[in-house]
Amino acid sequence: MSGRQLLVERIRDGTVIDHIPAGRALIVLRILGITGREGLRVAVVMNVESRKLGRKDIVKIENRHLSPEEVNKIALVAPTATINIVRGYEVVEKRKVELPETLENVLRCTNPTCITRKPREPVKPRFRLVSRRPVRLQCIYCGSIIDERDVLEQLVSGSG
Ligand code: CTP
Ligand code: ZN
Repeated sequence: MSGRQLLVERIRDGTVIDHIPAGRALIVLRILGITGREGLRVAVVMNVESRKLGRKDIVKIENRHLSPEEVNKIALVAPTATINIVRGYEVVEKRKVELPETLENVLRCTNPTCITRKPREPVKPRFRLVSRRPVRLQCIYCGSIIDERDVLEQLVSGSG
């Protein structure tokens, strides 16, 4: 951003989720359960120029850190995202999100007869990553494929 006017000011402490594919910032907020009623200072920047992506979204959240599970969920909908941890106005940690080869507990299998859907079976849903872009995962138990539409449906409906 050097040499250009900042659209929103820098934050003092918190998390900046940068390089979100344009149009997905609100999905990221939804995944994090941020409604605005928490009282946290949040900045959402949409459709700004990015050298790498053409256009991108940015989400800045003061005084909030992400759990590994939240980072995995963000990786599912925003595979290009960078998570920056800010302390005392400095970026102290920067990493790209990366989907793990196996994903546990984050998504549910779409097959209603899958063992992971049986109420009395304590089998946690588990998926193997088949493709990153577009995202495709396969249930380890029944072989069902979860695609990007299923992922968005589950994460955005808030049941995931
Ligand atoms: N940022 C912020 N508040 C700070 C520090 C950084 O909001 N106190 C934001 C910046 O505006 C930017 C992101 O965090 O959106 C990453 O900051 P920085 O690493 O300084 O920017 P770049 O070098 O442009 O990042 P990258 O190389 O990842 O594109
Ligand atoms: Zn299954």
